[in-house]
Formats: sequence, structure tokens, C-alpha cells
Amino acid sequence: MESAEVARRFLTFFEERGHTVVPSASLVAEDPTLLLVPAGMVPFKPYFLGQRTPPAPRMVSAQKCVRTPDIDEVGKTTRHATFFQMLGNFSIGDYFKEGAIPFAWELLTRSEADGGFGFPEDRLWVTVYQDDDEAADIWHREVGVPAERIQRRGLADNYWHMGVPGPGGPCSEIYYDRGPDYGREGGPVADEDRYLEVWNLVFMQEQLSKVRSKTDFDIAGPLPAKNIDTGMGLERMAAILQGVDNIYETDTLRKILDRAAELTGSRYGREHRADVSLRVIADHVRAGTMLVADGVIPANEGRGYVLRRLLRRAIRNLRLLGGRETGMMHELTAVAIDVMGQQYPELIRTAANIHAVIDAEEERFSQTLRTGTAIFDQAVAETRRAGRTTLAGEQAFTLHDTYGFPIDLTLEMAAEQGLKVDEEGFRRLLEEQRRRAKADAAAKKTGNLDVSVLGQLLDQAGGRVDFTGYHDVSGEARLVGLMVNGASVPAAGPGTDVEVVLDRTPFYAEGGGQLADQGVIRLGNGARIEVRDVQSPLPGLIVHRGTVRDGEAQAGDSAFAEIDVERRRAISRSHTATHMVHAGFRRALGESAAQAGSENSPGRFRFDFTSTGPVPPSVLRDVEDEVNEVLINDLDVRAFHTSLEEARAMGALALFGEKYGEEVRVVEVGDYSRELCGGTHVARSGQLGLIKVLGESSIGAGVRRVEALVGIDAFRFLARESVLVAQLSEQLKARKEELPERIAGVVSRLREAEKELERLRSQQVLAVAGSLAEGAKDVNGVAFVAHRVPDGTTADDLRKLAVDVRGRLAARPAVVMIAGVPKDRPVVVVALTEGARERGLKAGALVGVAAKALGGGGGGKDDLAQGGGANPQAIGDALAAVERAVGSA
Ligand code: SER
Repeated sequence: MESAEVARRFLTFFEERGHTVVPSASLVAEDPTLLLVPAGMVPFKPYFLGQRTPPAPRMVSAQKCVRTPDIDEVGKTTRHATFFQMLGNFSIGDYFKEGAIPFAWELLTRSEADGGFGFPEDRLWVTVYQDDDEAADIWHREVGVPAERIQRRGLADNYWHMGVPGPGGPCSEIYYDRGPDYGREGGPVADEDRYLEVWNLVFMQEQLSKVRSKTDFDIAGPLPAKNIDTGMGLERMAAILQGVDNIYETDTLRKILDRAAELTGSRYGREHRADVSLRVIADHVRAGTMLVADGVIPANEGRGYVLRRLLRRAIRNLRLLGGRETGMMHELTAVAIDVMGQQYPELIRTAANIHAVIDAEEERFSQTLRTGTAIFDQAVAETRRAGRTTLAGEQAFTLHDTYGFPIDLTLEMAAEQGLKVDEEGFRRLLEEQRRRAKADAAAKKTGNLDVSVLGQLLDQAGGRVDFTGYHDVSGEARLVGLMVNGASVPAAGPGTDVEVVLDRTPFYAEGGGQLADQGVIRLGNGARIEVRDVQSPLPGLIVHRGTVRDGEAQAGDSAFAEIDVERRRAISRSHTATHMVHAGFRRALGESAAQAGSENSPGRFRFDFTSTGPVPPSVLRDVEDEVNEVLINDLDVRAFHTSLEEARAMGALALFGEKYGEEVRVVEVGDYSRELCGGTHVARSGQLGLIKVLGESSIGAGVRRVEALVGIDAFRFLARESVLVAQLSEQLKARKEELPERIAGVVSRLREAEKELERLRSQQVLAVAGSLAEGAKDVNGVAFVAHRVPDGTTADDLRKLAVDVRGRLAARPAVVMIAGVPKDRPVVVVALTEGARERGLKAGALVGVAAKALGGGGGGKDDLAQGGGANPQAIGDALAAVERAVGSA
């Protein structure tokens, strides 16, 4: 039974039993707690939790999933795949155990002829959670499974949750006995190789608040209803039904595997190491193809990194098998698209995009491999020479940092050489580099590179400058230190550019996409500092950058800091607007609209996000419309602190890789948007007034930029547009709503007129054909026509005229040569009748003669040829040269 048929049967069986078929969701999870969809139930989670109403109480799906924690096991075992499909039936408060168990049994044991999977009853075993008598009873009494084939297991095996806070419940698993050749007697508790798990029925009934491990979690309480979530791995089922030993040999994966073997000239089933490589390639190419189809792009972090790793591992394994430089991934991707296209027709529709992304990654990685491998070999040699067995962290770091060699690859290649890698050392260097880069970037902005001076200032400020700007726009403070040109100074006179540190400040330092505040700091002695920029070069330190006016700034003086309130308000409006528009895009485009940076300036904001293609104008309009509608509902904007886990559980969007256990600040706009954010915002969404999205564009590999206006700037923009439209309406004497049609009419009439003009010119050119033929000169018994058309005549018309004149002279040996200057450069066309060719003349050769005179080249067939040159003045010479050539033939 083909894989696609396994899925079809599953869906049909449950559809016939009142289930609504729900199409697979994208692999890119909408759920902010997940990178990619790892289980079939993910799209159903909000229904279990009672957060959303399901489309129907009974549903069934075949869901695409990606799991990579066991990536190293792929190919080595029989059943690890990074991409797989999970078949499942779901009940939201409808049937529970009494329904799910008999359904499962019926589908598994019903004969193949009858639409089932045809398993013999005596080959099936089941497990239940240790104290789940209810499930055990249903299996035994209602279904008739003998008591000795029902086994009880603990939390580790028979309780299912997502590994993060969410729904969970005890489960019951169904196993297929592959027979004594595969292992020991005794059911799944004794041997999970012989007894293969085929289906997991989860009785979703609890809400988990904290999850520390598989078996250690807190239950917050019952879910709103008792639900069913089942999962059957399509690949594993297909392997059993196709009578093959492992999932890589099932119909779909096998085709990719075979093609990989063919391309690399290897043979599957001969040698273990090569077999593993072939399986890895088949699995990873398929997973990569499916991820790209769902909009993931190779990157160095997040899901882009998962994809990059899969593709690069596939490429590396191709190389291990002796694969040639590039192009193989293209062929394998084509097979993957072909085999998966049956179930996912969008793969075929977007094949060109998928190829573009994967081909580019192959190219990039080949380059990396070429340089990196040489450096790696050197590092290995050095390590061996020194009699060590561990590659130094520094070497791994250089490979990563200078040659873009991923650490996983270094680890893997080292293992192949029997060496270890000082991974901890590597991570330490990486972390140091990140810190340095951050401090450098900030220090560059403040014009100061000496971190020790900054450290001192931070100490003087008591280890941390208090930021009061979430609530206050001005306030008393003390000037704890100043710097001029990066050096600490006790005082600075009027006109001096300084960097100033206060013990507390309402000034926001640029960060998180929000621009810095500007304003003034007034000192106790009457001096003023105009603040133009504010940066935070070290965590906890806030540095104001500006110029001293009216007196001298002295360390230790009392200060009164005051920000430019209008500017701050406008920036805050932009920041809140960014959150809202971002939420709007995620609603419209899904999780894939992951933010990749933003800038909130007064009245204007932009944000970047990853996407394979342009966002359609209709989506831009819809998002803009929705956000404007939401903002006039005047939602409360609220900021609060909580743990990262709590924030995630609430669905807050985290953007910059916060760490587990950290306290974070969450900003929410009503129920519409919730993000981790340290910036300043308006108090109510109504304060934004209006948002106008200006447009979107590409800013490089897979990243789009949306730009928008907010508040009065948005209004002024629209007002200007309105004036413009009024002017057009006036000029075209049309009502505004008629403008598009009127303009389209004008443009189309213009085009027609141009075409007509072109036609008339062409007619005029061709009109001379008759008289040219009549006036043909006799050159050595050949009718010879040489003519120069008016400048601007197209090359096409040149050719037409030549052919027309030749047609009129068809009965005689004739050479027709037409020359002209379509644009700046001369062009000649030579056409010969059959009679002329019989005399040994060739159009190509004659054009050569002409082109030589014109300072260019050309060519063509014996009967018609075209050439050109650089010098229009030489056309007369060219005509004469051809005439001479004909005469001397
Ligand atoms: N959630 C369960 C699993 O993933 C059943 O769908 O195994």
C-alpha cells in the first residue's frame, strides 16, 4: 500500500464516522512556544485549551511534522525521521475513551479489501497508563483484547504532553508484533523493536502549568472538556504495510534514496556506512524540501538554522559518497517534489522557488566546504602531531568564525577522524565574541572604545543607572561622570561635545528598534547639556551624548533631566504601531512573518521580517485596515514583568533569544498583540490616531521590509495624496472614481497610436520594394540591389524589405542588400535568391564583407544574413564593397 493511500484510508475511515477533515497546517508553527510543528496535535491545541472554538467536535488530519532532537539517529536506526506525517483523529469534548479505542481497533483490523489496514488481531498488543482501569476495561471487555496482551506502564511511557505548558493526559498505545525474528517475547514492555508502536491514543484531560521533564510536571487543573488526540506515524505504518524493514525503504523515501545512489555511483545495501549516508540524504532532502515549501529560508538561527543544518548534512553525505561538486541537490529535490507532490500539490506549484532556495544553499555551502575542509585537515594534523585527541576550542572557533564552518560539522568530521572537540571552549569563545561585538557596536556609537572607562562610570552610578522613563519625562538626578573624546574628565566647558552619565534618567537609550530620546540636562550651576543621542554601551549603563551650553558641566553636580516630550510621544506611537502591524501580519501570513529588526522613529516606523516572496498588495491593505479598526477600539496598552516561561505560556512573542529563567517585560495591546519588549509605548491604542502602510520591499535574501506612517504623519500623507488625486481629476476632467478607467483609456489609445505609427512607417519602407526590384543593376549577370533606408527604420523592417525585394527577383540570380541605422549603429541585411546561390554566392560571406567595412561583424545562413558595425558613415563603402564582391565572383 502506497504512503498516499495509507493517509487516504485513514482520513476516509474517520470522515465516514462524522469527522471533519482538517488540512495539514504549515510546518512553521503558529504557536510561539514552538519552532516547528513536532506533532499532529499542535494545530488543535487551542481547542483542547478552550481558547478557540473548533470547526467541528470531531476532526481528522494528516499533519506534516519536523522533529530534530534525534537528528544524529537518522539513518542509523530503522525509524528516525526528521520529517514525518502524523495521522490523527481528534475529539473536542465529543467521544472519549469509549469511542477512540473501538475506532482504532476497527481501522487496524478491518481487512484491506474493506478499507482497513488488515492487521491480524493476535499480532496487536496495547498499553495503558498504570491506573487507567477504564481504558483497560474497554480494551478487554468491549474490544476483546486478551488481558495478557494489555500492559500497564508509568508516566514515562503512557502519559503524553508537549514538553511545555499546555494540554496533556494519559495515553494508550497500540503495538504490532513483528515476530520472533525481531526480538524477545513479552510485549512492548520487553522489547520495543519487535513490538512496534503504531498508534498512540491520548486522553487529553489536563492542563499542565510547569513542565520540567517527561515525568516531572505540574497539573494546573482539568481541561474544559475531555478530549481525544491520537497519533499514527504514516511512515512507520507504510513500512509495515509495505513489508520493508525501515522507513527509508518505503515508497517515497526509497525513490530519493535510489536517486542519490545513482548520482553518487553507490549501491544501497552493501555497506553500512554508505547506507547510513543514503538514508540521511533521503530523509534530509525531503525534510528540507518540505520546510522550504512552507517558507523557511536557510539562516544561522531559529528554524532557518534547522533547515540549513538539514541541507548541509545532506550535501556533506553526498560528498562522503563521492558526489560531484554541485547540482545533485537539485536533482534530489526534484525527486522529493515529485514523490511528495501527490499529497502536497503546492510543492509542484512552487517547485521553482524551492529549487532556487536549495540550489543557492548548495552553492554557498560548497564554497564553505572547499575552504573549510582544508583548514580542518590542517587542524587535525596539528592535533595529531601534538599527540592530542581533542581539537582545541580555538580551532573549532576559527573554523566557525572565519570559514563559516558550522560547529556540528566540525564535531561530526572530528568524530569521523576519531577525535573529540573542546566544545565548551568553543562556546566560551563564541559567547565572548558576542559580548565584545555588542559592546563594540554600542561603544562605536558613543564614540568611545574604552570599556574600562565605561565600567568605571557604571561603578560611579552604583552599578546600574535607574531608567525612570517608563513613567516620567523629566526628573532630578546627579551627574556622576563625564567623558570627552572617550576619556573621563572632571569638567567640560561651553561648546564641548560630551558624554554624560546620570545616576537616574528618563532618557531612553536606543535599543529594541526604538530610537533614542533627545532633550536637555540642566545642571545645578546653571549650565545646560543639549542631548542628541543616548546609548547603552554596557548593560545597565546609560550614556547621554550632547554639547555643553551656558557654563561648565561638572561631575558631581545636581541635574534636572528633561526629554523632548513631543518626540518621545511620536516614537512611542511608532513603537506601539509596530507591535500592532506585526501582529496583523502574523495573523495574515502566519508565524513565518517573524520580525527581523525594526526602527521606530517619530511618526514613521519600519520593520523587517522573513518571507520568501513579496507580500501581495491585498494583504498589505487588509492588515492596514484591520490594524486601524483595532486601534480605534482604544485598547489598553499594558506593560508588566514576568518570567520568560509565563510570558511564553501566554503566547507572548519573543524575538531576540531570551534565556530560560529570565525575567522579561511584556507589552500587550489589549488582546491583539503581546510581545516581549523593553521600549516605551502609548497608554491606549487610540492615541495612534491612524496608521498608513506605505509599502513593502525586499532588503536581501528572504527578508522584506514594511514601512509605515503613524499619527499626524499618516494623516498628512493621506491628505497630500488626496490633493494629488484632485489635481489629476481636474486635469483629466474626470471624477475621482473614474480616474483609473480614464487613465487606462488614455494609455491604451496612446499605445494604439504608437502601433499605428509604426505600421505606417513600415508600410512606407516596404512601399519602395517594387521600384527597388525594377531598378536592380546588372552586376556580372546578377541582379544587384543596394539600398539605404531612412534612419530609425527597425532591423525587422530591414529584413522584411530585403526578403520582399528578393521575392520579386526570385526568378533570377539576385543579391539584395539593405542597410540602415535603427538606433545608433548601422545594420545590414543581405538576401540571395536561389539563382545567386547556385552561382556560389553566400549571404553570410557578403554580410561579412559589409560588416568589415562597418567595423563590426555578423553572420547567418546562405540565403539570408545580418550584420552590423559601429560606424554609420561607412554604409556607402559597405554597399560598394559588397557590389565589388558580387562583381568578382
Ligand atoms: N500527541 C500524540 C503524539 O504526538 C498523539 O497525537 O504522539
